[in-house]
Amino acid sequence: MKVTVVGAGAVGATCADNIARKELCTELVLLDIKEGLAEGKAQDMMQTAALLGFDTRITGSTNDYSKTAGSKVVVITSGIPRKPGMTREDLIGTNAGIVKTVAENILKYSPDAIIIVISNPMDTMTYLALTATGLPKNRIIGMGGTLDSSRFKYQLSSHLGCSPADLNAIVVGGHGDTTMIPLIRLATWNSIPVTNFLNAEKQQAVINDTMVGGATLTKLIGTSAWYAPGAAGAALVESIVRDEKKLFTCCVALDGEYGQKDICLGVPVIIGKDGWEKIIDCGLNEEEQALFAKSAAAVRSMNDVLKTL
Ligand code: LAC
Repeated sequence: MKVTVVGAGAVGATCADNIARKELCTELVLLDIKEGLAEGKAQDMMQTAALLGFDTRITGSTNDYSKTAGSKVVVITSGIPRKPGMTREDLIGTNAGIVKTVAENILKYSPDAIIIVISNPMDTMTYLALTATGLPKNRIIGMGGTLDSSRFKYQLSSHLGCSPADLNAIVVGGHGDTTMIPLIRLATWNSIPVTNFLNAEKQQAVINDTMVGGATLTKLIGTSAWYAPGAAGAALVESIVRDEKKLFTCCVALDGEYGQKDICLGVPVIIGKDGWEKIIDCGLNEEEQALFAKSAAAVRSMNDVLKTL
Protein backbone atom coordinates (compact mmCIF):
# COMPACT_ATOMS: atom_id res chain seq x y z
CA MET A 1 0.00 0.00 0.00
CA LYS A 2 1.14 3.49 -0.85
CA VAL A 3 0.57 6.73 1.06
CA THR A 4 1.64 10.22 -0.07
CA VAL A 5 2.32 13.27 2.05
CA VAL A 6 2.36 16.51 0.08
CA GLY A 7 4.49 19.23 1.68
CA ALA A 8 7.84 18.34 3.26
CA GLY A 9 7.77 21.19 5.77
CA ALA A 10 7.68 20.50 9.50
CA VAL A 11 4.09 19.20 9.59
CA GLY A 12 4.43 17.02 6.47
CA ALA A 13 7.77 15.56 7.53
CA THR A 14 6.50 14.83 11.06
CA CYS A 15 3.39 13.19 9.65
CA ALA A 16 5.55 11.05 7.33
CA ASP A 17 7.87 10.15 10.21
CA ASN A 18 4.91 8.93 12.29
CA ILE A 19 3.50 6.95 9.36
CA ALA A 20 6.85 5.24 8.75
CA ARG A 21 7.52 4.44 12.43
CA LYS A 22 4.12 2.78 12.64
CA GLU A 23 4.67 0.98 9.30
CA LEU A 24 1.26 2.07 8.07
CA CYS A 25 2.25 1.40 4.44
CA THR A 26 4.99 -0.25 2.41
CA GLU A 27 5.64 2.82 0.24
CA LEU A 28 5.55 6.39 1.45
CA VAL A 29 6.08 9.32 -0.92
CA LEU A 30 6.96 12.76 0.35
CA LEU A 31 6.48 15.50 -2.24
CA ASP A 32 7.39 19.17 -2.14
CA ILE A 33 7.67 22.01 -4.62
CA LYS A 34 11.05 23.10 -3.22
CA GLU A 35 13.92 21.43 -5.14
CA GLY A 36 15.51 18.62 -3.13
CA LEU A 37 13.66 19.22 0.14
CA ALA A 38 11.44 16.11 0.00
CA GLU A 39 14.29 13.93 -1.31
CA GLY A 40 16.55 15.12 1.51
CA LYS A 41 14.01 14.62 4.29
CA ALA A 42 13.01 11.22 2.86
CA GLN A 43 16.64 10.10 2.90
CA ASP A 44 17.15 11.44 6.42
CA MET A 45 14.11 9.46 7.61
CA MET A 46 15.25 6.33 5.76
CA GLN A 47 18.53 6.62 7.64
CA THR A 48 16.54 6.07 10.86
CA ALA A 49 15.02 2.81 9.54
CA ALA A 50 17.89 0.62 10.72
CA LEU A 51 17.84 2.31 14.13
CA LEU A 52 14.08 2.26 14.61
CA GLY A 53 13.45 -1.01 12.78
CA PHE A 54 10.74 -0.03 10.32
CA ASP A 55 10.24 -1.39 6.83
CA THR A 56 8.32 1.42 5.13
CA ARG A 57 10.21 2.69 2.04
CA ILE A 58 10.18 6.48 1.99
CA THR A 59 11.04 8.35 -1.20
CA GLY A 60 11.04 12.07 -1.94
CA SER A 61 9.98 13.92 -5.07
CA THR A 62 10.27 17.52 -6.25
CA ASN A 63 6.82 18.16 -7.64
CA ASP A 64 6.70 14.99 -9.78
CA TYR A 65 3.19 13.71 -9.10
CA SER A 66 3.70 10.59 -11.23
CA LYS A 67 5.72 9.25 -8.26
CA THR A 68 2.57 9.41 -6.12
CA ALA A 69 0.53 7.20 -8.51
CA GLY A 70 -1.80 4.69 -6.90
CA SER A 71 -1.81 6.18 -3.40
CA LYS A 72 -4.57 4.93 -1.10
CA VAL A 73 -4.34 8.01 1.15
CA VAL A 74 -2.87 11.46 0.47
CA VAL A 75 -2.21 13.97 3.22
CA ILE A 76 -2.06 17.60 2.07
CA THR A 77 0.03 19.84 4.31
CA SER A 78 1.13 22.34 1.63
CA GLY A 79 0.92 26.07 2.06
CA ILE A 80 2.44 28.70 4.26
CA PRO A 81 2.21 28.38 8.06
CA ARG A 82 1.14 31.28 10.25
CA LYS A 83 3.57 33.64 11.94
CA PRO A 84 2.98 35.08 15.43
CA GLY A 85 -0.02 37.43 15.41
CA MET A 86 -1.57 35.84 12.31
CA THR A 87 -4.80 33.88 12.38
CA ARG A 88 -5.22 30.72 10.32
CA GLU A 89 -7.71 32.72 8.23
CA ASP A 90 -4.99 35.17 7.15
CA LEU A 91 -3.49 32.40 5.03
CA ILE A 92 -6.45 31.90 2.71
CA GLY A 93 -5.23 33.96 -0.27
CA THR A 94 -1.96 32.08 -0.64
CA ASN A 95 -3.05 28.62 0.44
CA ALA A 96 -6.26 28.33 -1.60
CA GLY A 97 -4.38 28.29 -4.92
CA ILE A 98 -1.82 25.82 -3.57
CA VAL A 99 -4.37 23.37 -2.13
CA LYS A 100 -6.50 23.41 -5.29
CA THR A 101 -3.49 22.69 -7.55
CA VAL A 102 -2.23 19.95 -5.25
CA ALA A 103 -5.62 18.22 -5.05
CA GLU A 104 -6.04 18.28 -8.83
CA ASN A 105 -2.52 16.93 -9.45
CA ILE A 106 -2.98 14.16 -6.89
CA LEU A 107 -6.20 12.94 -8.49
CA LYS A 108 -4.58 12.68 -11.92
CA TYR A 109 -2.42 9.85 -10.57
CA SER A 110 -4.49 8.52 -7.65
CA PRO A 111 -8.13 8.86 -8.70
CA ASP A 112 -9.29 6.65 -5.80
CA ALA A 113 -7.32 8.39 -3.06
CA ILE A 114 -8.77 9.46 0.25
CA ILE A 115 -7.55 13.00 0.94
CA ILE A 116 -6.70 14.35 4.38
CA VAL A 117 -6.42 18.14 4.50
CA ILE A 118 -4.16 19.79 7.09
CA SER A 119 -3.45 23.12 5.31
CA ASN A 120 -5.00 26.24 6.86
CA PRO A 121 -7.54 27.73 7.14
CA MET A 122 -8.39 24.04 7.43
CA ASP A 123 -12.22 24.18 7.28
CA THR A 124 -12.17 26.33 4.16
CA MET A 125 -9.35 24.34 2.55
CA THR A 126 -11.36 21.13 3.13
CA TYR A 127 -14.42 22.74 1.54
CA LEU A 128 -12.24 23.90 -1.36
CA ALA A 129 -10.76 20.42 -1.85
CA LEU A 130 -14.28 18.98 -1.91
CA THR A 131 -15.78 21.50 -4.32
CA ALA A 132 -12.73 21.75 -6.60
CA THR A 133 -12.34 17.99 -7.07
CA GLY A 134 -15.99 16.91 -6.99
CA LEU A 135 -14.89 13.76 -5.12
CA PRO A 136 -17.46 11.79 -3.10
CA LYS A 137 -17.70 13.60 0.24
CA ASN A 138 -16.51 10.62 2.30
CA ARG A 139 -13.07 10.84 0.71
CA ILE A 140 -12.27 14.38 1.89
CA ILE A 141 -11.32 14.68 5.56
CA GLY A 142 -10.10 17.83 7.33
CA MET A 143 -7.80 17.01 10.24
CA GLY A 144 -8.49 19.96 12.63
CA GLY A 145 -10.72 18.45 15.31
CA THR A 146 -8.42 15.46 15.75
CA LEU A 147 -5.60 17.82 16.69
CA ASP A 148 -7.79 20.13 18.78
CA SER A 149 -9.26 17.18 20.71
CA SER A 150 -5.75 15.97 21.52
CA ARG A 151 -4.81 19.45 22.71
CA PHE A 152 -8.04 19.51 24.79
CA LYS A 153 -7.01 16.24 26.47
CA TYR A 154 -3.58 17.68 27.17
CA GLN A 155 -5.09 20.75 28.87
CA LEU A 156 -7.50 18.58 30.87
CA SER A 157 -4.70 16.24 31.91
CA SER A 158 -2.60 19.10 33.26
CA HIS A 159 -5.49 20.33 35.41
CA LEU A 160 -6.50 16.85 36.57
CA GLY A 161 -2.96 15.53 36.99
CA CYS A 162 -3.86 12.45 34.97
CA SER A 163 -2.73 10.67 31.82
CA PRO A 164 -4.07 12.23 28.59
CA ALA A 165 -4.65 8.65 27.39
CA ASP A 166 -7.24 8.14 30.16
CA LEU A 167 -9.38 10.98 28.84
CA ASN A 168 -12.26 11.03 26.39
CA ALA A 169 -12.89 14.52 25.10
CA ILE A 170 -13.75 16.09 21.77
CA VAL A 171 -13.65 19.50 20.14
CA VAL A 172 -16.28 20.17 17.47
CA GLY A 173 -16.91 23.14 15.15
CA GLY A 174 -14.24 25.03 13.25
CA HIS A 175 -10.45 24.78 13.57
CA GLY A 176 -10.08 28.46 14.45
CA ASP A 177 -9.13 30.26 17.66
CA THR A 178 -12.70 31.52 18.01
CA THR A 179 -14.65 28.85 16.12
CA MET A 180 -13.68 25.64 17.94
CA ILE A 181 -15.95 24.23 20.64
CA PRO A 182 -14.29 22.06 23.32
CA LEU A 183 -17.21 19.99 24.67
CA ILE A 184 -16.26 19.90 28.33
CA ARG A 185 -19.75 18.79 29.40
CA LEU A 186 -19.21 15.48 27.58
CA ALA A 187 -15.55 14.97 28.55
CA THR A 188 -14.77 12.05 30.84
CA TRP A 189 -11.83 10.67 32.80
CA ASN A 190 -12.31 6.94 32.23
CA SER A 191 -16.10 7.41 32.13
CA ILE A 192 -16.31 9.86 35.06
CA PRO A 193 -17.37 13.36 33.94
CA VAL A 194 -14.40 15.74 34.25
CA THR A 195 -16.85 18.39 35.44
CA ASN A 196 -16.99 16.43 38.74
CA PHE A 197 -13.39 17.48 39.37
CA LEU A 198 -13.10 20.98 37.88
CA ASN A 199 -14.98 24.05 39.07
CA ALA A 200 -16.50 26.49 36.58
CA GLU A 201 -13.42 28.71 36.58
CA LYS A 202 -11.06 25.81 35.86
CA GLN A 203 -13.39 24.48 33.16
CA GLN A 204 -13.32 27.87 31.45
CA ALA A 205 -9.52 28.01 31.69
CA VAL A 206 -9.25 24.60 29.99
CA ILE A 207 -11.63 25.71 27.23
CA ASN A 208 -9.77 28.99 26.66
CA ASP A 209 -6.32 27.37 26.64
CA THR A 210 -7.52 24.71 24.20
CA MET A 211 -8.97 27.28 21.81
CA VAL A 212 -5.72 29.25 21.59
CA GLY A 213 -3.58 26.09 21.71
CA GLY A 214 -2.17 26.62 18.21
CA ALA A 215 -1.69 30.39 18.64
CA THR A 216 0.16 29.89 21.93
CA LEU A 217 2.64 27.60 20.20
CA THR A 218 3.02 29.94 17.22
CA LYS A 219 3.98 32.69 19.64
CA LEU A 220 6.48 30.49 21.49
CA ILE A 221 8.07 28.85 18.44
CA GLY A 222 7.78 31.69 15.90
CA THR A 223 5.87 29.53 13.41
CA SER A 224 3.00 27.09 13.71
CA ALA A 225 3.31 23.76 15.50
CA TRP A 226 4.14 20.41 13.88
CA TYR A 227 4.45 17.51 16.34
CA ALA A 228 0.76 17.28 17.24
CA PRO A 229 -0.54 18.29 13.77
CA GLY A 230 1.72 15.67 12.15
CA ALA A 231 0.72 12.98 14.67
CA ALA A 232 -2.97 13.81 14.20
CA GLY A 233 -2.63 13.38 10.43
CA ALA A 234 -0.90 10.01 10.92
CA ALA A 235 -3.59 8.83 13.38
CA LEU A 236 -6.21 9.38 10.66
CA VAL A 237 -4.07 7.56 8.08
CA GLU A 238 -3.79 4.67 10.54
CA SER A 239 -7.54 4.40 11.08
CA ILE A 240 -8.04 4.36 7.28
CA VAL A 241 -5.36 1.88 6.24
CA ARG A 242 -6.09 -0.47 9.14
CA ASP A 243 -9.85 0.06 8.84
CA GLU A 244 -9.95 0.72 12.58
CA LYS A 245 -13.30 2.55 12.55
CA LYS A 246 -12.06 4.86 15.28
CA LEU A 247 -14.08 7.92 16.22
CA PHE A 248 -12.30 11.22 15.59
CA THR A 249 -13.62 14.74 15.24
CA CYS A 250 -12.92 15.71 11.65
CA CYS A 251 -13.96 18.44 9.29
CA VAL A 252 -16.41 16.84 6.84
CA ALA A 253 -19.18 17.89 4.47
CA LEU A 254 -22.46 18.33 6.32
CA ASP A 255 -25.77 17.75 4.60
CA GLY A 256 -28.25 18.66 7.29
CA GLU A 257 -26.39 17.00 10.19
CA TYR A 258 -25.96 19.35 13.15
CA GLY A 259 -28.37 21.71 11.36
CA GLN A 260 -25.86 22.67 8.63
CA LYS A 261 -25.57 22.19 4.87
CA ASP A 262 -23.04 23.12 2.16
CA ILE A 263 -20.17 23.46 4.61
CA CYS A 264 -17.29 21.38 5.97
CA LEU A 265 -17.08 21.53 9.76
CA GLY A 266 -15.75 19.47 12.67
CA VAL A 267 -18.06 16.73 13.96
CA PRO A 268 -17.44 13.24 15.37
CA VAL A 269 -17.05 10.71 12.55
CA ILE A 270 -16.01 7.09 12.10
CA ILE A 271 -12.79 6.79 10.11
CA GLY A 272 -12.21 3.55 8.20
CA LYS A 273 -11.14 2.15 4.83
CA ASP A 274 -13.69 4.25 2.93
CA GLY A 275 -12.65 7.55 4.50
CA TRP A 276 -15.14 9.10 6.91
CA GLU A 277 -17.89 6.51 7.03
CA LYS A 278 -20.51 7.91 9.36
CA ILE A 279 -21.30 11.10 11.26
CA ILE A 280 -22.09 10.54 14.94
CA ASP A 281 -24.63 12.71 16.71
CA CYS A 282 -23.10 13.66 20.05
CA GLY A 283 -26.30 15.27 21.34
CA LEU A 284 -25.41 18.93 21.65
CA ASN A 285 -27.53 20.89 24.11
CA GLU A 286 -29.15 24.16 23.09
CA GLU A 287 -26.20 26.31 24.14
CA GLU A 288 -23.67 24.10 22.34
CA GLN A 289 -25.87 23.97 19.24
CA ALA A 290 -25.94 27.79 19.23
CA LEU A 291 -22.14 27.87 19.42
CA PHE A 292 -22.01 25.38 16.55
CA ALA A 293 -24.27 27.60 14.44
CA LYS A 294 -22.07 30.61 15.23
CA SER A 295 -18.96 28.65 14.27
CA ALA A 296 -20.64 27.60 11.01
CA ALA A 297 -21.50 31.23 10.20
CA ALA A 298 -17.85 32.29 10.67
CA VAL A 299 -16.55 29.42 8.52
CA ARG A 300 -19.19 30.12 5.87
CA SER A 301 -18.10 33.74 5.55
CA MET A 302 -14.51 32.50 5.14
CA ASN A 303 -15.69 30.06 2.45
CA ASP A 304 -17.33 33.02 0.68
CA VAL A 305 -13.88 34.59 0.32
CA LEU A 306 -12.99 31.72 -2.02
CA LYS A 307 -15.37 33.18 -4.60
CA THR A 308 -13.44 36.46 -4.64
CA LEU A 309 -9.99 34.93 -5.23
C1 LAC B 1 -2.18 24.27 14.47
C2 LAC B 1 -2.19 24.39 12.99
C3 LAC B 1 -1.72 23.14 12.31
O1 LAC B 1 -3.27 24.37 15.06
O2 LAC B 1 -3.43 24.76 12.52
O3 LAC B 1 -1.11 24.05 15.06
